[in-house]
Amino acid sequence: MVRPYKVTGQKRKKKEKYDREEEYEQLDDNDIPQSPKKAKTEGLEGSELDKEKAEQVIDEMPRIPIVPTDMFKKSRDIFILERASLEISKVGKSYQLLSSDEHANYLMKNKRKPAEHCFSGLFEAIQTILDSRVNKSGRLKASYVRTQQGILFQIKPHARMPRTYKRFSGLMVQLLQKLHITAAGKGEKLLRVIKNPVTQYLPINSRKIGFSHSSEKLVDMYDYVSTVDNGMDLVFVVGAMAHGKIDKDYVEDYLLISEFPMSAAYCISIITTAVELQWKIL
Ligand SMILES: C[S@@+](CC[C@H](N)C(=O)[O-])C[C@H]1O[C@@H](n2cnc3c(N)ncnc32)[C@H](O)[C@@H]1O
Repeated sequence: MVRPYKVTGQKRKKKEKYDREEEYEQLDDNDIPQSPKKAKTEGLEGSELDKEKAEQVIDEMPRIPIVPTDMFKKSRDIFILERASLEISKVGKSYQLLSSDEHANYLMKNKRKPAEHCFSGLFEAIQTILDSRVNKSGRLKASYVRTQQGILFQIKPHARMPRTYKRFSGLMVQLLQKLHITAAGKGEKLLRVIKNPVTQYLPINSRKIGFSHSSEKLVDMYDYVSTVDNGMDLVFVVGAMAHGKIDKDYVEDYLLISEFPMSAAYCISIITTAVELQWKIL
């Protein structure tokens, strides 16, 4: 698999084509990806013509209307993952991301609780946000992560994250040391540490919704999303820690979206599904 990030001292191998990377090229934060242009029909022969006819038939079939992505210029979504357990320390000769799996002895020797050092919840939460149709359709404006130590970083919607814990861990060490991760060949900062507080990056016309298993406001997420004013950006604040709860002043409403305690990733998938249903993003 191709490394999406610059690694000093290594030449990049043949560039694999990633549809999303291509789609987002040339776009900045405020731009919305458009659907790919239809191929021209002139000069087509044989099987190409059959394909063209088949496409016409499919075009004429009844279907569920899809909301044009232009609509999203009115409202977009932001995720904030609070209290993420991301701490680096020099273990032996190198800096490493502390985890209960690999550094239990080190953590106990340093009078730290191993159970509080687990980044799998954050890893899965980020993947769920970036893999969602909310993101692929262009509705995701940004994602922010705030660590237990108060370090805040931004993840661009079109960043592709490593799929293994090991590489994710390496990327986080690099981010916390260099303060940014740059896209290979483009110089664009896909992840970067930014100044607190996170509220300065939130649109004025936005609703800040927190999620907590200790909230008493049990809602059906789809019903809730459908009542929010159309033109408002939605800011979803989810805990990325293993234990404890989020308690932030900027949150306007704390919701309980299931009677059961869930992982951050599962909670995010309920949120994104509700948004996707509301906007008919298929
Ligand atoms: C692994 S939990 C954090 C652990 C913490 N004991 C808790 O239940 O809040 C990850 C996050 O998912 C969200 N979450 C989990 N279950 C939820 C629920 N039933 N309703 C709303 N949010 C929930 C919260 O934001 C929580 O901080």
